[in-house]
Amino acid sequence: MEQTLVIIKPDGVRRRLVGRIIQRFEDKNLTIKEMYQGVLTEAIAQEHYAHLKDKPFFPNLVNYMTSGPVVFLLLEGKEAITLVRQMLGATNVLQAIPGTIRGDFADSTTENIVHASDCQENATIEIQRFFR
Ligand code: TYD
Repeated sequence: MEQTLVIIKPDGVRRRLVGRIIQRFEDKNLTIKEMYQGVLTEAIAQEHYAHLKDKPFFPNLVNYMTSGPVVFLLLEGKEAITLVRQMLGATNVLQAIPGTIRGDFADSTTENIVHASDCQENATIEIQRFFR
């Protein structure tokens, strides 16, 4: 079993998509181990996206991520990290294919509804950051 960290981002909460997104993960037989709603501070958003700090879109990204409540999910399942990333769809709005969460709901690369850990190392760090 693997664990991964998902964040339903501010636009996902604002657009009242929380239930439908969680339903997809449950439909895929992933287990919700823990879950809560909260607001990211600027410092935590900057830390979470530190790998992008030199990108031109970084200030926008941090503004967006701190713009309202988000929902944190700790999900568990077989190959959960890879599986959940596939369910999210591509980062680029034009490459996120229909059937994925971003492909079905996102109309912007920055405001793209969901985050999920992209590898084991980051899953460990992100679970620690938001659940421990
Ligand atoms: P990244 O970690 O590359 O992708 P992912 O979220 O799929 O793991 O990027 C983090 C977030 O930064 C991404 O979800 C949306 C935003 N972003 C942009 O706004 N513009 C961009 O060109 C990229 C690559 C990302």
